[in-house]
Amino acid sequence: MMPAPKIAGQSKYYLIKILADFRDGKLKGTVMPSMTKSLKDDEIAHLAEWLSGLPKPGLKKSGQNRPAILNGDKTRLIQACESCHGLNGKGTASAPFIAGQNRDYFDNQFKAFADGSRPNDLHGGMSRIAKSLTPTEIQQLTDYFTSP
Ligand code: HEC
Repeated sequence: MMPAPKIAGQSKYYLIKILADFRDGKLKGTVMPSMTKSLKDDEIAHLAEWLSGLPKPGLKKSGQNRPAILNGDKTRLIQACESCHGLNGKGTASAPFIAGQNRDYFDNQFKAFADGSRPNDLHGGMSRIAKSLTPTEIQQLTDYFTSP
């Protein structure tokens, strides 16, 4: 069983996009395509509205050492994570929260973005970033952002 993401409190726009992506066959998966296949647009909107209103997780503790890669790396065209994902990875209207996400799920997404099994992210931004990050950096980002 693949680790499932935490979705309570997730960005509404992002939830609508990701649910429609699964339904419309733009994303593959073992569970989500069949879960979403009969959802209508307004049902997806209602689900997203409800989920996005729930409390969201956050960073596990303040005062952790921030890994350098969090601020991006201009030489590899990697933008700072927080420039899209919001301060402390809390998410924005359009980008998902990443702070407090399930550890194995978070870690797996970099492999999926890099190897093309998670396509259709906006402008290929995450795919490009995931291909550029080293395994050590992914480990540091996972340690920093996730909870068990
Ligand atoms: C240019 C904007 C941008 C930057 C910079 C960025 N992200 Fe993202 N990220 C996104 C978007 C948009 C998505 C949603 C992609 C989709 O629709 O599938 C995403 C998705 C993710 C996901 C999957 C979330 C989920 O719930 O499935 C993770 C994990 C992630 N980003 C981590 C990071 C980390 C760590 C960094 C810094 C190295 C980073 N991102 C930098 C825009 C960005």
